[in-house]
Amino acid sequence: MRDFNFKFNTKILFGKNKLEEIIPEIKMVGSRLLLAYGGGSIKSIGLYDEIVALLNKHQIPFEELSGIRPNPGIESVREGVKICRENNLDFVLAVGGGSVLDCCKAIAAGVHYEGDPWDFMVQKAVVKKAVPLGTILTLAATGSEMNGNAVISNSETFEKRAMGAPILCPVFSLLNPEYTYTVNKWHTAAGITDIISHVLELYFTPEKSTQVQDAMSEALIKTTVSLSPVVLEQPENYEARAQIMWTSTLALNGLLSFGKLPGDWSTHLIEHEVSAIYDITHGAGLAIIFPAWMTYVLDEQNAWRFAKLARNVWGIIDTDDLSAAHKGIAAMKSFFSSIGMPVSLKEVDIDDSQLGTMAEKACRFGSIGLIKKLNKADIVEIFKIAL
Ligand code: NZQ
Ligand code: ZN
Repeated sequence: MRDFNFKFNTKILFGKNKLEEIIPEIKMVGSRLLLAYGGGSIKSIGLYDEIVALLNKHQIPFEELSGIRPNPGIESVREGVKICRENNLDFVLAVGGGSVLDCCKAIAAGVHYEGDPWDFMVQKAVVKKAVPLGTILTLAATGSEMNGNAVISNSETFEKRAMGAPILCPVFSLLNPEYTYTVNKWHTAAGITDIISHVLELYFTPEKSTQVQDAMSEALIKTTVSLSPVVLEQPENYEARAQIMWTSTLALNGLLSFGKLPGDWSTHLIEHEVSAIYDITHGAGLAIIFPAWMTYVLDEQNAWRFAKLARNVWGIIDTDDLSAAHKGIAAMKSFFSSIGMPVSLKEVDIDDSQLGTMAEKACRFGSIGLIKKLNKADIVEIFKIAL
């Protein structure tokens, strides 16, 4: 076990009928809000009206930023920064899925920064000061509700980049599973895939002294897998939506990464390059890349870890590590298919024309990965497996 310090910066308000509880949390740190959301789902579920009524009731002035798209673009970040500055806003309330939350984190960072907020995404600037942020989550997937990360896209340069700073952790996040009832099958399944992928990125470490982290990881994946058919067939099943929602938060709030190396993350870095060019749903990209990555990096030395996953999560009974590992990869791939996710690039109409470009961009800062260091040629091979 490696040394670590443990502190969560986000207060979680989990459950039904808690909307009013956001008011004292907001008033502790802010007085004038930016209310930010996506393409309209919060209006169709009635949440927008409830929030507006609540803010009016408590006489909290606010301005709005709407239309934040999935794979949020830097243009929305710039617009949000402008609205905050022009209206002297001192709190950002993000309502939606990971895309809205991420966009709002970048806005929160950009308000006190003189330059273009894209600078944060390309390591030209670090976040020193940020407007406080609160979130109301409507889609279980990214874990953005309890971490300081944001992923922003630039459609002019076909880039999708991540930034992170502890100061960008939301001060509170309201998690009401009822708000996720209307998430369609595609985005529910993509969220499930994202949750599993976050756990796996952290699970794949060469270290062996990770028993407690591994056991928690395996439990989170098993919970997600077993409840997937329930949320897909019964979208208004509160208990199943609640378990999946909390799992998404736990998967990427640091809990699984304390005491060990920070995970492999190759699959995410590779997927981000795919969605930067083709604008596919993040979870769908992961369903394609993760099994391909596993197939490529699996070898005699690391087979024990793949076999552990196969046996403890996918129920594979096979005493030979390499053989168990291969069966586990096949089981995971067929699970992704069973929930309606694509497992090949072909299924999302991606051909081999950009493989080299995407591979080069994925390792623009040098080789990536922890389980196995990957360079451009390795990543091209992973794409070929995924074709
Ligand atoms: O825009 P609206 O109308 O809200 O519709 C959204 C969107 O079309 C819809 N939706 C959300 N809540 C809904 C709903 N529809 C009906 N009912 C509801 N209650 O779902 C669609 C997808 O939303 P989005 O926010 O894009 O999905 P997700 O939460 O999966 O976020 C994906 C983004 O997060 C990034 C991804 O790369 C991607 O850009 N990630 C962020 C991470 C982080 N901050 O830690 C880590 C992840 O690995 C990931 O990279
Ligand atoms: Zn992810």
